Amino acid sequence: MKDAILSSRMNHIDTSLIRKMFDLAGDLKNPINLSIGQPHFPAPRNIVDAAAKALTEGRTAYTQTQGIPQLREAMAAHFREKNGIATQADRVLISSGVSSLLQLLFMATIDPGDRVLLVSPAFLIYRGLVSFFRAEETLLPQTFAADDLKKIPKDRLKLIIYSSPSNPTGYIMKAEQIKALADLAEETGALLVSDEIYALFDYDKKFISAGSIYPETLTLFGFSKSYSMTGLRLSAATGPQTIMKAMTTLQQYTVVCAPSAVQWAGVEALKTDMTPYVDDYRKKRDLIRAGLQGVTEFYEPEGAFYLFAKVPGEDMAFCERAIKEKELLVVPGRIFTNETNWIRISYAAEESVLHRGIDALKELMK
Ligand SMILES: Cc1ncc(COP(=O)(O)O)c(C=O)c1O
Repeated sequence: MKDAILSSRMNHIDTSLIRKMFDLAGDLKNPINLSIGQPHFPAPRNIVDAAAKALTEGRTAYTQTQGIPQLREAMAAHFREKNGIATQADRVLISSGVSSLLQLLFMATIDPGDRVLLVSPAFLIYRGLVSFFRAEETLLPQTFAADDLKKIPKDRLKLIIYSSPSNPTGYIMKAEQIKALADLAEETGALLVSDEIYALFDYDKKFISAGSIYPETLTLFGFSKSYSMTGLRLSAATGPQTIMKAMTTLQQYTVVCAPSAVQWAGVEALKTDMTPYVDDYRKKRDLIRAGLQGVTEFYEPEGAFYLFAKVPGEDMAFCERAIKEKELLVVPGRIFTNETNWIRISYAAEESVLHRGIDALKELMK
């Protein structure tokens, strides 16, 4: 087969960096893995049982494109009660992970040359999609004030995307910042997109759902992190009618529907109290924050389960050294930002692993 079989779009997606890290880590015997962006515990038993029951009862067929009515209703109630978003079931789309929702969103809205504003450091899939869809990326530092929005390019601005709590920094977006982004969306006609996949993991102050401030927001909800369902692939979105309709149409041609039995597990998940798990991560956040205090500079980790820390020298060299000298896996920060001297540390790990990680980081940072 000739290379020419590949579309020119494929030149605009690059996974070489992540592959390189995986290759390096390939034959470690007892790695300290602080690179993974997923909970270190399995989904609670009642959720697994609900999926098993659905399968045993023969729920193995396609569902409606938008998702089963029971989950759409439950999600609409969740959006209203937990997030303060005035929505209803007919404005909820169930999909297969927030990653799929992002695909549908870009397909529905982005032509080459359109502009996407990302709050930076930004989740790598947003950046990958901007590049793949040949859009222009504008990065806005997460500490931005309303005035900073006056200075950014606004031509062809289509999407304004952020995650709060943030992957990779754990930052929780402030109400006045959300208002400023909403004003920008109003002024330019762009769509404000709030990725709330880490909503449950807010430790000190309550995370604010953008849709409660600005009803025209597209809100993305994920089951992956909240309920440790990363491999089960389930998500939900709610937002303006036009965008919901377009994404649903595109889902017919792509995802088709979220896995049927998993949607039933989703109904059960929404009834599950995850407080003990969140409390556990709060303690782990405290542990790693205390461990690295005075050792290096880092963004204040307010939520999610990441700490974004500065390293001496280049991130790639640091990550390679961490693997070779300490069997420690962390993620180079350059996939989230244009700066090259940061790493992302995930504290979704067993406490003993975290202790080993902190000790290793302290020595590597010397
Ligand atoms: C901010 C953010 N959004 C979306 C996703 C994708 O999650 P999923 O496709 O599993 O729902 C992730 C996963 O790491 C994430 O960190």
